[in-house]
Amino acid sequence: MKTFESGAYSALARRTVAEGCVLLRNEGQALPLPEGAKVAVFGRSQFNYYKSGTGSGGLVNTGHVPNITEALEASGRVTVDGELKSVYESWIEDHPFDPGQGWANEPWYQEEMPLSLETVSAAARANEAAVVILGRTAGEDKDSSAVEGSYLPAKAELDMLKAVCESFRRVAVVINSGGILDMKWVEEYRPGAVMYVWQGGQEGGLAVADVLTGIQSPGGRLSDTIARDISDYPAAGNFGSESRNLYPEDVYVGYRYFETFAPDKVLYPFGFGLTYTTFELSNQSVSLGDDGNIWLSVTVGNTGSRPGREVVQVYCEAPQGKLGQPARSLCHFAKTRELAPGEQQGFSLFFTPSALASYDDSGVTGHKSAWVLEGGEYTFYIGTDVRSAEKVGSVTLEETVVEQLEEACAPVTPFDRLRPGAPQDGIYSKAYEPAPLRTVNPMDRRNEKLIKSEGCTGDKGYKLSDVADSKVNMEDFLAQLTDDDLCCIVRGEGMCSPKVTPGTAGAFGGVTKRLLDFGIPTGCCADGPSGIRMDCGTHAFAMPNGTLMACTFDPELVSELYEYEGLELRKNKVDTLLGPGINIHRHPLNGRNFEYFSEDPLLTGRMAASQLNAMHKYGVTGTIKHFACNSQEFHRHDVEAVISERALREIYLRPFEIAVKAGAARSIMTSYNPVNGLWSASNYDLLTTILHGQWGYTGMVMTDWWAKSNDEGQEGERTNTAAMVRAQNDLFMVVPDSASNAMHDNSAEGLEKGTVDRWEYIRSAGNICNFLLQSPALQRLRGIETELDRALSEAPSLDDGDSAEMFYVEAGGDNRIDFDVSLIGLEKGDNTRFGVSIKEQGLYKLTLTLRSTDSNDVSQLPLSVFQDRNLLGTATLTGAQRDWETAEFNVMGFSGNFYLRFFAAQTGLELKSVTLELVKTLQELQKEMGQ
Ligand code: BGC
Repeated sequence: MKTFESGAYSALARRTVAEGCVLLRNEGQALPLPEGAKVAVFGRSQFNYYKSGTGSGGLVNTGHVPNITEALEASGRVTVDGELKSVYESWIEDHPFDPGQGWANEPWYQEEMPLSLETVSAAARANEAAVVILGRTAGEDKDSSAVEGSYLPAKAELDMLKAVCESFRRVAVVINSGGILDMKWVEEYRPGAVMYVWQGGQEGGLAVADVLTGIQSPGGRLSDTIARDISDYPAAGNFGSESRNLYPEDVYVGYRYFETFAPDKVLYPFGFGLTYTTFELSNQSVSLGDDGNIWLSVTVGNTGSRPGREVVQVYCEAPQGKLGQPARSLCHFAKTRELAPGEQQGFSLFFTPSALASYDDSGVTGHKSAWVLEGGEYTFYIGTDVRSAEKVGSVTLEETVVEQLEEACAPVTPFDRLRPGAPQDGIYSKAYEPAPLRTVNPMDRRNEKLIKSEGCTGDKGYKLSDVADSKVNMEDFLAQLTDDDLCCIVRGEGMCSPKVTPGTAGAFGGVTKRLLDFGIPTGCCADGPSGIRMDCGTHAFAMPNGTLMACTFDPELVSELYEYEGLELRKNKVDTLLGPGINIHRHPLNGRNFEYFSEDPLLTGRMAASQLNAMHKYGVTGTIKHFACNSQEFHRHDVEAVISERALREIYLRPFEIAVKAGAARSIMTSYNPVNGLWSASNYDLLTTILHGQWGYTGMVMTDWWAKSNDEGQEGERTNTAAMVRAQNDLFMVVPDSASNAMHDNSAEGLEKGTVDRWEYIRSAGNICNFLLQSPALQRLRGIETELDRALSEAPSLDDGDSAEMFYVEAGGDNRIDFDVSLIGLEKGDNTRFGVSIKEQGLYKLTLTLRSTDSNDVSQLPLSVFQDRNLLGTATLTGAQRDWETAEFNVMGFSGNFYLRFFAAQTGLELKSVTLELVKTLQELQKEMGQ
């Protein structure tokens, strides 16, 4: 168990970033930079380090994040060319960072400074090395695009690369991006070194300097294949639709596709990455053990002259059989400890053959809807990336039905899917077959399995703590809830609910007085995944992004880091982080790839499980998301994934299955999009048949924020809560007020008409309560303070105070202040403080008149108001609120002077007026209270 200590937290995050940096090229040992070297740093992104992508996963408020130049200077190991730096600085004065207007509008890249030949030649004369930094972002509601300045380099960047590579002998290009980019320019300009440093959170810049200067060896390996051209990816042509994307590439995602059909399209293979030393693998062997497991051994030796770590990767080539198989599938990996030059480490790895099984969705093997191992020779390759992994041996397995399931979530739209055709020189031709269609209607299945509810028993005095203390069972406890209570419990409240930690995304469980009276605590969830997002401005630790963590290939290290995340959640009274995001990198342009891990399901699943297990040590958890197939952000509320059951099970659901089974996941967020005709939040087969039924999941499921649900054949709607509950998506997130059914959902109507049964509401209430029973929320409600909580409340927090400029205002004789709204900063991250003086003590009303200027209807636009250090509240508008709205806050004016602070967590709001006026004098208040 760890204790919360910000220094140790930072140090571990910094090491994690270095372990995730992927060095793609290092000709003539361009890196590390020699000690004492004079270095010219090019690229404007040296001043705006991207700590994460954009959207909910990028809104962690944190202290100063050092950029790469600052970090290099602070390292004391190299000298950064000050003259070149000041050329950039003065250009940036006229070309400041452009944050874009509002939600999802930050540009993919910041305009690059054009370089004159004189500037580059002068720098080349004065320095022995050049570091070129390229920066990119993308995120929620904003996919990348195959245009210059996003996936492709901008013209000014190419000019910079050309000029610098022609003038310097030693050039290192550093890519600060959430995901992979076009890399054709490497062949053209041939810089000495090229390294992806991803988006490393608050410690990222410092860690990059550690790697550049050789304090740390880059430890990362690619978690995605880098193909020559964007059109080479198997999902090309079936990505980016507004309404429906077919998945004809089937299980052939990422390297599974390239190694089978198109090896020549690969620039950098999956799993590839260099270090500052060299390694040799020896003593490889594979055998089928007496225990029935497949055993592999390998020895890794450091044959270079520096310390470093290597990643051993094991790939399987299953027999083509009747199903058809990718030429390679990752089936195991392990990372060495840091090996000194000459040192060796031996590995003995094993796994069960059933991990190699495939899902037969057509019945071609004679075992429809089963995980099957087809009989034949399974060949194993061990190496340090998918391409160079060498054949070690093979094992012959007999045909085995590993698990007989029942068909679920199969497609209803006919399409053809890819499969290997005839092989030639080890490469398969592309063949297609019709994807098997659905034969079972999920609604029939639901009707068959429905248990009619017993009805409400009325209040018997049982509290949820009685269930915790085994005095009453969950069924009898829940039977007390009226239909209206049940309709309320499936509504989460947010954002920035005053019932939970300020500034967080949602409250759930005890959201009404009646539910609280039953002893149901109010749970708190916060984005996620890159640290705790608190829109009121509270600081939190900004974590490295998902892609970076996957590239570490080091679940143990990631687990250690997430122990601190667990402690931080617990300290902030957040029961579940809304992360990790574990969708598959199906296509390089998905805006949220930065949050997600990899194109490979095993790597993704192991990362997720390690994060969850770490957070569970401290009683808190993570909400794995987005279940399932959030493969693009464009039209994410509506774009349907049409996909075979096999591809779903083997690729897209697999990480969730691993997180449920090996990570004991207990909270899941569904995706916005429909999967095979049914919006995820109302997809019975996805949530009830597969998740609960086949995987044995016992946790809760929440929607994504304001997600749609549908009845088959109907359009998705945000109000169709009946369909949501019927599918066993337990919580609709989020409404402003559950008790008043503020979003007019159809729960009560559904119960009345019988389109959903009370039993189904009880089932969801049970899932929510079971979650709460396992979370610190229950202890908070019961007033139990554990030793851990005591220690955490005493540990210093990460909030380093507020240093915003202060304006002073004074109430006149009318006890009223009209604030000058032009002083109030409304750009993302702006803090504006007022020192307020009043003459009359009493209760004041602060009224804000504000509206959205954002073009996106579902943008989240929060403005928080603090009195001194206390949050009065947060006015969160959605992008659609474009007419003037008012928000009111009570301000107790007991002292003559106090501070008011306005914090904008997101750009996109306009303020018309802010007034403070006396409502009741102190005397009136005292009289009311009978004093
Ligand atoms: C995102 C989720 C996030 C939620 C709450 C949604 O827009 O898709 O990932 O957790 O908002 O902020």
